[in-house]
Amino acid sequence: MSHPPILVALDMPTAGEALDLASAVAPHVAGFKVGLELLMGPGPALIGDLQEMQRPIFVDAKLHDIPNTVAAAARQLGRAGARWVTVHAAGGRKMIEAAVAGLSEGAGSEPAGILAVTVLTSLDDLAEIGVDTSVSGQVQRLTRLAASSGVEGVVCSAHEIRTSRAAAPGLITVVPGIRPDGSDRHDQARVATPEEAMAAGADYLVIGRAITSAADPVEAASKIAASILERR
Ligand code: C5P
Repeated sequence: MSHPPILVALDMPTAGEALDLASAVAPHVAGFKVGLELLMGPGPALIGDLQEMQRPIFVDAKLHDIPNTVAAAARQLGRAGARWVTVHAAGGRKMIEAAVAGLSEGAGSEPAGILAVTVLTSLDDLAEIGVDTSVSGQVQRLTRLAASSGVEGVVCSAHEIRTSRAAAPGLITVVPGIRPDGSDRHDQARVATPEEAMAAGADYLVIGRAITSAADPVEAASKIAASILERR
């Protein structure tokens, strides 16, 4: 049986904590997400350690810089064993294309793809950053740009899955902002339950605190996994 399509966001300060949590919840999930906290702490060597669990590693580096720099960073992450790497689509076509090329060069014959972040799920006021369209209009626009620049998929909230699919049907959707019924929203503005996100067509759910901050993370992961598998 394939693993439930959950990527656990290992948002924690040390490699030891990340590895312990990952090995505990591994039976219930598809893979792991390494974010900025771990990249800036223990660093990309952790990707190799996590790979020993034979699961894809999603490196949420959210790259956004000039194309040459982004290509070099993506190449390093490809060499380190990243299966997916995120870039901010707002960096533009040349930057996204450079990320795609750099990652594939670094990964060699291993599968690897860029995921574009369109609008952060914590952001609900685009006017504040000078963007004069609705969230869904901006998601649509950036999704089209990312698709035509060679990405494998997009990171979007559950509320934007349909918009993303309509804009670029071939892309996978990786969906954070997941909260099981009744749990704390924390700083996420556009949340959905695991069941809602799957029903909307998510390919992978990114789940952090609902698992990592639970009193019993293994129980939380197994409950969410069961609720998803029931729907299949
Ligand atoms: O703890 P929580 O489930 O909210 O964690 C969500 C994870 O997904 C975090 O690691 C966050 O950085 C990431 N993420 C997000 N929104 C995006 C892209 C990534 O919340 N648009």
